[in-house]
Amino acid sequence: MLGKFITFEGGEGCGKSTQIRLLQAALERYGKRVLLTREPGGTPLNERLRPLIKEELEDPPVDKCELLLFLAARAQLVEKVIRPRLEAGEWVICDRFGDSTLAYQGYGRGMDLATVGELNRFACGTLKPDLTLLLDLPLEVANARRRARETGTGTVADRIELAGGGFHERIRNGFLELQRREPERIRLIDASGAPEEVFARVWKSISPIV
Ligand SMILES: Nc1ncnc2c1ncn2[C@@H]1O[C@H](COP(=O)(O)OP(=O)(O)OP(=O)(O)O)[C@@H](O)[C@H]1O
Ligand SMILES: [Mg+2]
Repeated sequence: MLGKFITFEGGEGCGKSTQIRLLQAALERYGKRVLLTREPGGTPLNERLRPLIKEELEDPPVDKCELLLFLAARAQLVEKVIRPRLEAGEWVICDRFGDSTLAYQGYGRGMDLATVGELNRFACGTLKPDLTLLLDLPLEVANARRRARETGTGTVADRIELAGGGFHERIRNGFLELQRREPERIRLIDASGAPEEVFARVWKSISPIV
């Protein structure tokens, strides 16, 4: 039997990584084998691409280059990791996937949505998430969470997190628009409140397919 492919989407600092860890633990209690992976990343090649995409470089990628780097990494991840694991019956949870490309490069950077969607399908083939959890949070709350994390862990914001000029507002609205277009696949999760409260909402969406 094929495993299930679950993706988490949403802006920076909305709690994706936190919820993914909680979901992995819950699914494992149900006896599922669960692979966590992230974008861009998840294979040795992709982990080398990741800093090229995310870091503040002296020669930052132009929008088309950024889009194609993300999609190059996704093609590698789908073929090398996600498909084989699903075929082996494992659950795969991915921290961001195709909807992030539409939200960031489409709605955020302003590239043509139809073209971004077409290229995304080229990178993924027929693979689509069984379920996508869109964590939605007002920007001020997400920013406060991220600042607390940066102080706590000594990490610094990356190139994409730092983009200004309404970029993150466009992304939030873009994700909400994608959710309205595909309400069956993309579940809107209110990401406010304590991690356990948010997880109760996540689990309500997931449990029918466990
Ligand atoms: N429900 C919550 N309430 C308060 N703080 C939270 C909550 N969920 C996560 N956090 C904290 O907020 C910060 C951001 O959470 P997390 O890293 O899970 O978000 P993320 O969506 O993965 O962010 P990024 O997009 O930057 O990877 C972390 O420090 C985390 O511990
Ligand atoms: Mg994260």
